[in-house]
Amino acid sequence: MTVFKTNSKTDSQTTNNLQRLTIKHLHEVASILAVAGSDVVKGLSQIDKTLPPRYFYSDRGSELFEQICELPEYYVTRTETSILQECATEIVKITGECELVELGSGSSTKTRILLDAYQQQNLPLRYLPVDVSGGMLENTAKQLLIDYPSLGIYALAGTYEFALQQLPAKQLATRAIAFIGSSLGNLNPQECQIFFSQITEALQPGEYFLLGVDLQKSKHILEAAYNDSQGVTAEFNLNMLEHLNRLYDGNFDTTQFEHWAFYNETENQIEMHLRSLKQQTVELHALNLQVDFAAGETIMTEISRKFNIEVLQEELKSHNLVTKKVWTDVNNWFGLFLCQLQ
Ligand code: AVI
Repeated sequence: MTVFKTNSKTDSQTTNNLQRLTIKHLHEVASILAVAGSDVVKGLSQIDKTLPPRYFYSDRGSELFEQICELPEYYVTRTETSILQECATEIVKITGECELVELGSGSSTKTRILLDAYQQQNLPLRYLPVDVSGGMLENTAKQLLIDYPSLGIYALAGTYEFALQQLPAKQLATRAIAFIGSSLGNLNPQECQIFFSQITEALQPGEYFLLGVDLQKSKHILEAAYNDSQGVTAEFNLNMLEHLNRLYDGNFDTTQFEHWAFYNETENQIEMHLRSLKQQTVELHALNLQVDFAAGETIMTEISRKFNIEVLQEELKSHNLVTKKVWTDVNNWFGLFLCQLQ
């Protein structure tokens, strides 16, 4: 465990921040990453090639994702933000004094709406952000400490799985785990079941789970969101190949692949692929891997599932997560679920 030291201008603020912020680096992450190449080998050796979406998130990939969230076609972030603005006070009134664990906290932008609401009710503030990017976690925490003088932060740099197993003892009356931003949609149904089990294991009865998901809607709205006119999503998708080149000493030529995203109406999911523009062979030297592509062959890089409120509510219930309330926007495009463990 490391205690974060800021470069604050005054000693008192440094001391203050030292007491208010702990960053725990989950060392298991290193061992996961060490074997992570095996995901790549497995995915690229299949007949239907796939790559795990976590390879999107190099530093550049994280920047591109932040840009996606601002795109006119990508309604997801804007819509969830507007719902949170509407219902944050109600959430706080339901949970009462509550510490907030956030999985995949990133820049914590939307979380500020919740922190503001707890603060407005004069409730104590404790935030436990979890993110694989230690750099992002540290920078965000630094800023939050300045903006919320009474906030205590215990940050966990690592994957959800390990973080959920290593949460520190609760310091406030109750705890809520937040998984917002529709990241649940990037898990396949089986991964989703495992994830819900991990959530229930990390919570005690009576504690809360706040879940933000994208809802089913017309194909043209969905396809526009993943094929934006500025090409940012295309760059985000292709950046995965650059990231793999750096990680595994590869020679993917990104000019020889193109972005392809469509809505699969049978599975209710966006599928993002990278399509090979010609017959080619790519090598990832560090993985001792050589991959042949036919012209037009694709690698699936992401699914983004779109949910139905009632179906998801039933699924949550089968994990003893009872929905207290669901908030949506005027168009019914996005759903925010507040569940309680029975
Ligand atoms: C992170 N996740 C919720 C995004 C989504 O919409 O599934 C990732 C994304 N991929 C392309 N655009 C955004």
